Amino acid sequence: MSNSPYDDHGNKDLSLGNAKGMGEIDTTKHSGPTHESAGEPFLIGANMTGGYGKHGPDILHDCTIAVEKGEIAVIVGPNGAGKSTAMKATFGMLNLRKGHVTLDGVDITGLTPQDRVARGMGFVPQNNNIFTSMTVEENLEMGAFLRTDDYRPIIEQVYDLFPILKEKRNQPAGELSGGQRQQVAVGRALMTQPKVLLLDEPTAGVSPIVMDELFDRIIEVARSGISILMVEQNAKQALDIADKGYVLVQGANAHTGTGKSLMADPEVRASFLGG
Ligand SMILES: Nc1ncnc2c1ncn2[C@@H]1O[C@H](COP(=O)(O)OP(=O)(O)OP(=O)(O)O)[C@@H](O)[C@H]1O
Ligand SMILES: [Mg+2]
Repeated sequence: MSNSPYDDHGNKDLSLGNAKGMGEIDTTKHSGPTHESAGEPFLIGANMTGGYGKHGPDILHDCTIAVEKGEIAVIVGPNGAGKSTAMKATFGMLNLRKGHVTLDGVDITGLTPQDRVARGMGFVPQNNNIFTSMTVEENLEMGAFLRTDDYRPIIEQVYDLFPILKEKRNQPAGELSGGQRQQVAVGRALMTQPKVLLLDEPTAGVSPIVMDELFDRIIEVARSGISILMVEQNAKQALDIADKGYVLVQGANAHTGTGKSLMADPEVRASFLGG
């Protein structure tokens, strides 16, 4: 894995140093956000209000989620809070009645999801995020649908990040374990070489050990400079690796702060982290 492009970039943020087994953080390579001048996060879904369909009720109410360059932002909250809806809205799958989405300083509110992918967004939805009857490698090839160049080296990068996928590359993805399927889904999204990755519950239904392993890989991806905006049920563990955290309740922002500050907030702890 040492030749993976996802683990050899010094990260500017020491708060990512919680990763187990990743002791080689080079703090001398501070580069900082490339678009500081814009005064906005790298990706922001700002003040989003909207729901499903033309006449459906609003699910999101003035909801804001964002992530900085190369950082990890985590969205937590109760079931039905609108976490997935906020992700879909940011990816262009919802008609917003209010608010806007900005990527790298450019307003992309009017763009289709496909156009957002072309501009550097990757999205791994909560459900049905792989093609179960296709092989692992075919799934990755599907992820390369926008590429006109030779995508072979990128598949190799994904295999470096997730070695088990190389072993299982000719197996139908539906035969894989839950954690391995999530690796396929993340790998597929990486095939477009996104600048920002939206992950909706990447560790759903996996064991604690597999969850730790997946988080380590996600940290590796972030270290390579890719921003991660993810929804997580494992709130404590996710906030522990998060630069920024959002607690959503009933489609609105209830608490926002650094991962550390949310973990330390007595109200957040009592209401959302089980004390
Ligand atoms: N496709 C849809 N059409 C209409 N309503 C929907 C749709 N998807 C979700 N909703 C509604 O939007 C609200 C928020 O759902 P959402 O899936 O965003 O919550 P969530 O926070 O992701 O929940 P979970 O933790 O269970 O994944 C719910 O009331 C849900 O019923
Ligand atoms: Mg959800």
